[in-house]
Amino acid sequence: MKQVLKTTIAILATAACWALVMPVQAQDSPQSLRGAEVAAVDQAPAEKKYIGGKPGGQAKVARTFRDQPPIIPHAVENYDEITLEQNQCLSCHGADVFEKKKAPKIGDSHFLDRDGKKLATASPQRHNCLQCHVPQVDTPPLVENSFKGDIADSPVVGNKN
Ligand code: HEC
Ligand code: HEC
Repeated sequence: MKQVLKTTIAILATAACWALVMPVQAQDSPQSLRGAEVAAVDQAPAEKKYIGGKPGGQAKVARTFRDQPPIIPHAVENYDEITLEQNQCLSCHGADVFEKKKAPKIGDSHFLDRDGKKLATASPQRHNCLQCHVPQVDTPPLVENSFKGDIADSPVVGNKN
């Protein structure tokens, strides 16, 4: 009987604690990471200008980690959209034209098929350049970032051309 009483008191005490805690929790509505009310409509950030202009007009953006697809240092908005039939990027970066166009050649990895076999031309897997390479805008980071690159550990950074 004594044990039952003890248990009852324990249950009552726990319930009392919850009663104290619950209203406080209810007042603390969830905080969204974007800092706005959870139900508020997203505000599109103001459009920023890409830093790049014409190819050749600016320095390449330094790579920060191994296997990073290099950032495009020039504007791409003026080029036609990449389609099944055409790819303007390759008209400067393709293996057959890059020297004449004074553009860096597409990476060696771009000539490998999915089995690692070397192809004479760019692998179709790499056709959609902008899936990996992106132009950049000069703007402060959207969130705090303590990322440290490992480029110094990289045995090979890009082609030798
Ligand atoms: C008219 C020629 C031309 C076209 C078209 C072009 N590029 Fe470039 N690209 C260059 C040149 C020249 C550079 C060398 C950097 C510079 O001087 O701007 C370059 C640099 C780059 C780099 C940086 C390489 C590195 O090692 O840092 C990437 C990535 C790139 N371009 C991707 C693209 C993609 C993707 C497209 C298509 C959307 C494209 N380029 C279209 C001429 C061109
Ligand atoms: C699946 C991701 C991916 C796609 C798609 C892709 N690239 Fe790359 N690219 C990379 C990576 C990663 C590197 C870094 C070196 C490497 O792996 O060859 C690179 C390197 C490069 C370089 C620099 C070569 C050097 O000197 O290191 C150029 C220029 C380039 N790519 C252009 C292009 C163009 C143009 C296309 C479209 C035809 C394209 N890439 C498609 C991932 C990609």
